[in-house]
Amino acid sequence: MAETISIGGVNIAKTAALAPMAGVADRAYRLMCKKYGAAYTVSEMVSAKGICYSDKKTAELCTVTDAERPMAVQLFGSEPDFMAEAVKIVRGFSPDIIDINMGCPVPKVVNTGAGSSLMKDVRLAADITEAAVKAAENIPVTVKIRSGWNGDSVNAVEMARALEASGAAAIAVHGRTRDRFYSGNADISIIKDVKAAVKIPVIGNGDVIDGASCLKMYDETGCNLVMIGRGSYGNPFIFEEIECALSGKPYTPPTLEEKMRVMLEHIRLILELSPKCEELAMHEARKHAAWYMNGYYGSAKFRGRCYLLNSYAEVESLAAEFIELVSKNS
Ligand SMILES: Cc1cc2nc3c(=O)[nH]c(=O)nc-3n(C[C@H](O)[C@H](O)[C@H](O)COP(=O)(O)O)c2cc1C
Repeated sequence: MAETISIGGVNIAKTAALAPMAGVADRAYRLMCKKYGAAYTVSEMVSAKGICYSDKKTAELCTVTDAERPMAVQLFGSEPDFMAEAVKIVRGFSPDIIDINMGCPVPKVVNTGAGSSLMKDVRLAADITEAAVKAAENIPVTVKIRSGWNGDSVNAVEMARALEASGAAAIAVHGRTRDRFYSGNADISIIKDVKAAVKIPVIGNGDVIDGASCLKMYDETGCNLVMIGRGSYGNPFIFEEIECALSGKPYTPPTLEEKMRVMLEHIRLILELSPKCEELAMHEARKHAAWYMNGYYGSAKFRGRCYLLNSYAEVESLAAEFIELVSKNS
């Protein structure tokens, strides 16, 4: 049995969590990652204002199913009052944790003063957190931050201290400044600095792509939990790999046949859970099919073909063709 950590009373296995990823880590994705051992999942980011104005799609994003637990619903916003109101509404969806996004770099979010823009205004970030904590009652509130706004303002330590004082139950740190978006290597030394500065659990995030990089994140930062985003693209198996790495068990990666079987299972789940017709849901599923094919002989051409898929029957026959091609050339 893996060691567990507690975030405001919510027990989470100290293995690896799935990071929130808008447009990627939807319910089907979270369920696949849970199946392979993700210790904790987070919803795609949801607009606090959107919830307050009872946007139907936003409410759908807040739904938590038992198989995804422990799960957080993540909110973004720039006004304490809207955040408090949104938290009260989200409580009705019974998430285990409510997370606040203070790391999103995209202009659409930053230009409203939310996401990583809050790294520039520690006082406002603290006020938003305090309002959320008060409104959340017994549900723990966590915050996900970056190392800073840019290279000249690396303030994750100051930010984390202020958020802890405002009642945050844990802080997730992505070791990149906002101006770097997702480029270059994550700086994990900032995660170590945050860990040394606060008493609440710290979640380390950035560039964990396998068992070795996960062990490095734990060893070098002392973080309480590791969180994985892009390393799980087409690779829910990463969570199993990490459990093996942490417990010293040998890990056997899936065969291509197994990968294609899991890819088809994932696509079926997307189609089943989507309110859209098969063709439109398939358009959303295309990128996942392509990711599962990464890293094999001839996969570039097949990945291109994934972006033309319109039905489940097509992806099924493409997977069979892919297996045949790879086995002929290996
Ligand atoms: C497509 C995509 C969508 C993302 N959406 C969110 C989001 O909704 N909320 C959030 O806090 N972070 C979001 N992130 C950031 C990730 O949670 C994570 O911090 C980042 O990808 C670094 O971790 P990684 O190197 O393991 O991918 C997103 C990242 C990607 C690539």
